[in-house]
Order: sequence, then C-alpha cells, then structure tokens
Amino acid sequence: MTTLGIVGAGHIGSTVARLAVDAGVDVVLANSRGPETLADLVADLGPRARAATAAEAARDTDLVVLTVPLKALADLPAEAFDDKVVLDTGNYYPQRDGQIAELDDGSTTASELTARTLPGARVVKVFNNIFFQHLAALARPQAAVGSGERTVLPIAGDDGAAKEAATELLDAIGYDVVDAGPLADGWRFQPDTPAYGVPYDGSSDGTWSGDTARRASADEMRTALEAAVRRGDQR
Ligand SMILES: NC(=O)c1ccc[n+]([C@@H]2O[C@H](COP(=O)([O-])OP(=O)(O)OC[C@H]3O[C@@H](n4cnc5c(N)ncnc54)[C@H](OP(=O)(O)O)[C@@H]3O)[C@@H](O)[C@H]2O)c1
Repeated sequence: MTTLGIVGAGHIGSTVARLAVDAGVDVVLANSRGPETLADLVADLGPRARAATAAEAARDTDLVVLTVPLKALADLPAEAFDDKVVLDTGNYYPQRDGQIAELDDGSTTASELTARTLPGARVVKVFNNIFFQHLAALARPQAAVGSGERTVLPIAGDDGAAKEAATELLDAIGYDVVDAGPLADGWRFQPDTPAYGVPYDGSSDGTWSGDTARRASADEMRTALEAAVRRGDQR
C-alpha cells in the first residue's frame, strides 16, 4: 500500500489520517506550525503516523491529501507537489478565505485554482462535500459490507490514473466512488449544491454530528450532481 501525505492536519486531515491508519496505510502529516506541534496527534494515531514539514509530506509520499483553507494555497511549497496525485478537499468560504473574484463570478472552481497553484500536480477533487464527523462515521472499510452498499463520495479530475489512485484509497478506507467528471465539473458538489453535505445527513433539523450520519447511495449522489445549477456565484 502507498504512504499517504496529509498536508493540513485539522478536522478533515486528522479524520482521513485516522481512517487511513485504521486501514493499514502509513501517513505523514503536516500543518503550518511545524511537525513538533503534531506530536499529540501522531501519538494518538500510533506507529503508522509521523509528522513532517508540508514539503516533506508532499514530496516523500505516494499520494497526497491537501486539506488546508483555500487562503493558504499561496503559502504551499508548490514544487514539492510536482508529479503527485493530490486529493484536494478545499472549499471556498469568502468569510474565511476573502473574496476571490473568479470564484465569485463562477468563471473557475476551487479545485481548478488549486491545480493552477500546483501546476505539476494531478489534482482530484474529493472529500470536500462531506462533514468531517460524517466522514468518520460512514466509513465501511474492507469487506464489512459489499461494494455498492457503502456511502459514496464524488470525485472530479482530469487524469484517469489519478482518479484510479483516489478510488483505491477511498475503497481502502471504506467508501465507494461516483465519478463526477473533469475537474471543471467540480462545482457540481461545491458549497450550496444538493450534493454538498446534505446527502450524508439524516437529522430532521440539519444539526450535523456523527450521530446524524446516513449512507448516501450512488443513485442519490448522481441525482444530486445532476440537479446542481451553476449560478454566477456558484463556487
Ligand atoms: N471541516 C469539514 O467538515 C470540512 C469538510 C469538507 C471540506 N472541508 C474543507 O477542507 C479544508 C480543510 O478544512 P478543515 O475543516 O480540516 O480545516 P481546519 O480544521 O481549519 O484545519 C486546517 C489545517 O490546515 C493547516 N494549514 C493551514 N495553512 C497551511 C499551510 N500553509 N501549510 C500546511 N498546513 C496548513 C492548519 O495548520 P495550523 O493549524 O498549523 O495552521 C490545519 O492543520 C477547507 O478548505 C475546508 O473548507 C472541511
């Protein structure tokens, strides 16, 4: 199995790390403050985990999950991502990231922005549409349930081999995949679309937590992706 780099060790990064470690995958985690600040998380994850700089976590691993706020893209060591398959979890939240005109007017998408910032990387958009507690709760690794009976995550990307690598990782940690098309179609599961968050939530009042997680099927996800409407402010 591959070694997984995880650049960004917050809600999503640490959740993916836990799922990967539990699936027998070695992980190398990085944040903005330095490896020493990840000692507790690494200790909690156990011997399959270690901490490194962002450059090391990208360069010295086989597959990289990039899970930082969009506003941090400019601070990344771009060349360390050259030739890497990069699984991009990022969403655009103007209140956090500042206004980005070409996302506000819908002329590009968040993951295309990531791909432009990391021109040597093969970017696959994934994990961005699921709340981190639902991601932890809905994973069904190994043969616990058959393929086709698990929760699906949509992926988008322009490189077939990169999408295969993403699909393999998702299978290992416990998810099926729906291919949503090229990276330019990633808007179909960005914030404010029917595929964003809601398919995984079983609460009656939208109070998301691990307890409200519900399985999203491939048919449901395809319907949600198809129902998305691209607006001028679609991100
Ligand atoms: N939370 C969710 O449920 C969820 C679901 C789907 C998608 N997303 C999206 O996924 C991305 C990450 O979300 P999150 O909730 O996991 O964020 P988070 O909890 O705020 O964690 C962000 C992580 O990124 C790190 N980081 C920031 N700048 C960095 C840099 N230049 N180099 C390396 N690491 C850096 C932070 O490190 P420091 O703490 O050291 O600064 C932190 O570990 C966002 O775009 C978010 O919109 C979130």
